This record gives sequence, structure tokens and C-alpha cells, in this order.
Amino acid sequence: MWRLLLLPGLSFALQVHDASGAPECSRHPPGKHVVKLPEVQRQFLLVVPQEYTPVQASGIPLVLVFHGFGDSPWYSNLLMDFNQHIDRYGWLGILPFGLNETGTNGLSGEGACCSSECQGECCTKAQALNKKDSTACGWRDPERDTKFVEAILKWAVQNSCADPDKVFAAGFSMGGMFVNYLACHASHLIRGFAPVSGNVLPIGCQISRPISYIGMCGSQDTIAHCQDTLEITASSLSKMNRCSGAGPDGAAITFARSATTSCKAWDVCPKHNFVELCMTEGLAHDVSGHLRPDDTSWIRPGSDLDITEYFFQKFSLLVNGSMLFWGKPTAKEIDYKYSRWPYPKQYDHPYIRNGSVGH
Ligand SMILES: *[C@@H]1O[C@H](CO)[C@@H](O)[C@H](O)[C@H]1NC(C)=O
Ligand SMILES: *[C@@H]1O[C@H](CO)[C@@H](O)[C@H](O)[C@H]1NC(C)=O
Ligand SMILES: *[C@@H]1O[C@H](CO)[C@@H](O)[C@H](O)[C@H]1NC(C)=O
Repeated sequence: MWRLLLLPGLSFALQVHDASGAPECSRHPPGKHVVKLPEVQRQFLLVVPQEYTPVQASGIPLVLVFHGFGDSPWYSNLLMDFNQHIDRYGWLGILPFGLNETGTNGLSGEGACCSSECQGECCTKAQALNKKDSTACGWRDPERDTKFVEAILKWAVQNSCADPDKVFAAGFSMGGMFVNYLACHASHLIRGFAPVSGNVLPIGCQISRPISYIGMCGSQDTIAHCQDTLEITASSLSKMNRCSGAGPDGAAITFARSATTSCKAWDVCPKHNFVELCMTEGLAHDVSGHLRPDDTSWIRPGSDLDITEYFFQKFSLLVNGSMLFWGKPTAKEIDYKYSRWPYPKQYDHPYIRNGSVGH
């Protein structure tokens, strides 16, 4: 049915009546939607891909992204080029909105986390950060916010074809700190964790099943100082997770990914999990490989690891082939192409071919 998917509007209707009996994936069309959960007085930004990866009986992967203090789901989405990756993998994405200090903007709609001077397009195009004061959205009460995550996952299971066993969480700064909290308090709900620029484990951390973890930090992070804690966080998680590395006596292996990013991996873990940390040399409190949408970043060497790309790639290890284009090209397609000259051109998926979707 891929040919029909060239018409994104139609693809959904077709999915509902899919002759293969695949479940309907979501009532929401491709794109971004603010979804409200009145029962917990909270809301999130749902990111629906242009088309879903073929839906296995168990469902499709879901990635949650938690924004930093004073920013918003819109900002994180642009900061991480998140929806492009959702489109490329055919997964579902959810970016929850944090709360201001009084906790009363939980249902305030798309502009909830932007200042009154930056509403509408200014907010959704992430042109300005909110001041980091009591009006700023954040994750101030992790226990309360974990209940929100539980409500989100319940919604996702009831209202989409998200696979509860393939849920991942990433976050930046305070959102990254909350992801560490979730690793310790919601490991029964979330399989893989990717905190960026916020890497401290809460005291008394315990995990209830094997998880995967990829932590990232810049070596000059003068805001979160995650460079001081990343190693201890990753090594203690690797112990809790009963992981070892591929080095002598099970030591973790450190490898240079590029001239500016090195990673350390404990990748011999139960159930194909991994624990890894990556450090980008010289990077400040920013997302490795990305520019901020409000033009407040320094341009860095192109060698910095693209952390969004990397955590999607790492999480792909845990999804049993639930990715768009898994198994392509088929042997038959290869034979056909090389039997012709000139090679036949391919015109499927123009939104990917013309570069409007990343890598
Ligand atoms: C939080 O947001 C609500 C709704 O906009 C507002 O009434 C309240 O004053 C805000 N609280 C703070 C501390 O900004
Ligand atoms: C992995 O996917 C294959 C085919 O898509 C399916 O038959 C198999 O049951 C899946 N395995 C698990 C562990 O989900
Ligand atoms: C790329 O393709 C998409 C979907 O067909 C279309 O909406 C978009 O305008 C195209 N962009 C360019 C730069 O051609």
C-alpha cells in the first residue's frame, strides 16, 4: 500500500481499513497536535509521522521528549529536529508540556510555556525562551510529573497503536534530569532513556527490569555541570543493570566517535540493552550536533555527534525491526534495478527524497 501513502491524507483512511487487519494507529493525522488530558490537568504535543512503520501486532515505538526549564515542546522539537526523525522512522512522538511554578497552566494550550510577549507563531516556531523564573515551565515535582507520564502512556495505549514495550524517553537539561528520575522510578514503563545535558541519578535509584541508557553532555556545560556527573551516573546504572563492557575483565570501552565526541559503552547487558555515555569536547549547555531555534547557540565543529540521530539509532536496536523501510530493498528489487540501463528512477516518498525530512 506504499504507493497510496504518497497522499498523506488518504493513507490514514486506508490504514483503518487495512486488509491485513493491522490495527488502526491513531485518530490523529500526520503532524503535530496538542492533546489535553483533563483528568490530570495536563497536555502534550503529539507528533504523528507522515506514515507509520508497518504495525506489528504489538504496536509501534513511542519516543517521549521532555523540554528544558523555560522552554517548550515546540522549542525541543526544533532543537532536536525531532519530528524529522519521527517521520524517518515512522514512530510516534510525544512532547509533554511542563508546568509553571503554581502548576496552573496545565491545560493552557499551545502557548502554555511561552511568555505573553511570545504567543502564536513566536511560540510554535520557538523564537524566544521564556524567562527562567516562576512563569517558566519545568519539571519541578517529579512525583507529580511521573503520574502525568503514566497518564500519557495510558492514553497512548488506548488511543494509538504505541507498543508499551517500546517506549523511550529523551530530554534536555531539566528535562534530561527528569529522564534520569524516570529511569529510576518508571523503568517498568519505559525501556530506554536518553538524557542530554542533565545526568544526575536521584538518591536511592532502583530499576525494576533491564533498561537502556545513553547520556550525553558537553565538556563545558557551565549550567548543568553534567560533565562532573555523567560518568558516575552511567557507571552506577550499568552496575544496577548488570552490564559490562567489551574491554578486559568486562571494562567499558571508550572510543572516539569523531574529533570532538567520544563515547564510553557498557554494551554487554541482559536482554540486548546497553548503557553508554557520550561527551562532546568544548560544547556548552547545548544539544550536541544541533543549533538552538532562537539563535542563541555558537556554531560548533561539524564533527559533534548528532545526539538525536544517535539515540534514535541506538533505540532502533530494541525495536525488532519496527522501522520504515526495514528489509528494503528486497532481493527482487535489486535484481530488477541492475537488469536495466539506465537504472529506473524512484519517485516514492518525495517528502523523504527531497530533503524535507532529515537523513
Ligand atoms: C501559571 O499559569 C497560569 C495560567 O496561565 C497563570 O494563571 C498563573 O499565574 C501562572 N503562574 C505563574 C507563577 O506564572
Ligand atoms: C519480531 O518481528 C517478527 C516479524 O516482524 C515477529 O514475527 C516476531 O514475533 C517479533 N519478535 C518479538 C520478540 O516481538
Ligand atoms: C518535498 O515534498 C513534500 C511532500 O511531497 C512537499 O510538501 C514539499 O513541498 C517538498 N519540498 C520541496 C523543497 O520540494
